Amino acid sequence: MIDGTQILELITSRQSDRKYSPRPVEKEKLERILEAGRISPSACNAQPWKFVVVDNPQLLPQLAEAASARLLGMNTFAGQATAMIIVVREHANFTSKIGATIKNKDYSLIDIGIASANICLQAEAEGIGSCMLGWFDEKMVRKILGIPKTKRVELMITLGYSTADKREKKRKPAEETISYNKY
Ligand SMILES: Cc1cc2nc3c(=O)[nH]c(=O)nc-3n(C[C@H](O)[C@H](O)[C@H](O)COP(=O)(O)O)c2cc1C
Repeated sequence: MIDGTQILELITSRQSDRKYSPRPVEKEKLERILEAGRISPSACNAQPWKFVVVDNPQLLPQLAEAASARLLGMNTFAGQATAMIIVVREHANFTSKIGATIKNKDYSLIDIGIASANICLQAEAEGIGSCMLGWFDEKMVRKILGIPKTKRVELMITLGYSTADKREKKRKPAEETISYNKY
């Protein structure tokens, strides 16, 4: 079991990597990264997700196109990714849906966020850079991958061997985001 310092080091070392080398991600690494998503916790264990893995060199540029907004300079780096995981929201189970209605909380989105974070952390542990993308043409992604119109595509995660330098974390100070025993 890794100790507390090591896990914090891993969390600190993960960053959104937006530069990748052409070296493909090995299948065993990709499988462990996916396993980290698959075994993630979710409200009422609903597991409201499907991870569509894309490593096909014909499909990757099409997905990169769907994520890019050239005028804004958004996500044009996605074309360098050698693999992507597309996170589709699936129906939650009955208990999770009832809970979500009663408590007015979108548990499925929380679940997807947790699974995606685990995916990115496992990627980091495997020496693979990642970036979650929330900005993309959802319709286009559905069309490319044959995802039914009724489903929401919540995130795209780009993967690849990073050639980016490690950056210092830019975060709000702890005094602003953490408090003890009162708001
Ligand atoms: C839900 C979500 C959506 C995001 N969408 C994008 C995106 O479309 N493009 C992008 O370059 N980064 C995207 N990011 C990455 C954030 O910009 C990044 O996590 C944040 O600036 C903190 O930097 P770090 O991940 O390097 O620590 C997204 C992150 C999250 C969690």
